[in-house]
Amino acid sequence: MKRLTAVSAAAFLLVICVSSAVADIKLPAPKTEGGMGLFEALKKRASAPGGDFPSGDLSDEELSNVLWAATGLNRGQKGWTVPMDRGLPPYVNVYAARRDGVFLYDWGANTLREITKKDIRPDMGLQSFVAGVPCSLIFVADGEALAEFSDEILRTQFADVAAGAMTQNAYLACAAMGLGARYIHSIKENEIRSALGLPDEDRVICIFMLGK
Ligand SMILES: Cc1cc2nc3c(=O)[nH]c(=O)nc-3n(C[C@H](O)[C@H](O)[C@H](O)COP(=O)(O)O)c2cc1C
Repeated sequence: MKRLTAVSAAAFLLVICVSSAVADIKLPAPKTEGGMGLFEALKKRASAPGGDFPSGDLSDEELSNVLWAATGLNRGQKGWTVPMDRGLPPYVNVYAARRDGVFLYDWGANTLREITKKDIRPDMGLQSFVAGVPCSLIFVADGEALAEFSDEILRTQFADVAAGAMTQNAYLACAAMGLGARYIHSIKENEIRSALGLPDEDRVICIFMLGK
């Protein structure tokens, strides 16, 4: 009986460990050929209305395409879809908040690295419609990477320029795939910071809503 109890306890612990194990998600390779032409995508680029935002989930392939457009490698192991000062690795990180948790996009491995299993979407935006969005990307200035620049103004400007280029690329990818997108500045920064466990030197720039 004692032995059975010990075995049951071990099995219980195993279940707890497995269910709390970090679950990274290897994304399908992004589509890098074909699709809508750039000028047609430029003609279609628009923000979907916040109050009537598309409520369907993106597939991992669609998310992979948007993330690649925002900050993917496009020339071997050095060279990204967005310009970075001196071709440095991206100093703005992109996180994806979905029903199954929050993930950091690892552009080198095209993988979503799990940060938390918590669904933080209901507590990210100051506008109520943000809570119901299938997926929101979070753009965060990476303080450690930006330490490269000695001047605080440069650190802020360069991160904001990068986030602008990234979100515009994401808008265009969404236009080309018929996905809904919207840039959001009105965010609950403190709630996002603490959910992501960001160090003091990181800065949340914006979120970018996605749906279909
Ligand atoms: C810097 C910036 C901040 C924005 N912040 C918000 C926001 O907090 N909430 C919101 O609903 N839309 C926000 N938007 C989306 C704009 O309202 C939207 O882009 C604008 O209405 C123009 O529409 P269009 O993107 O379809 O051209 C923001 C856009 C930008 C560029």
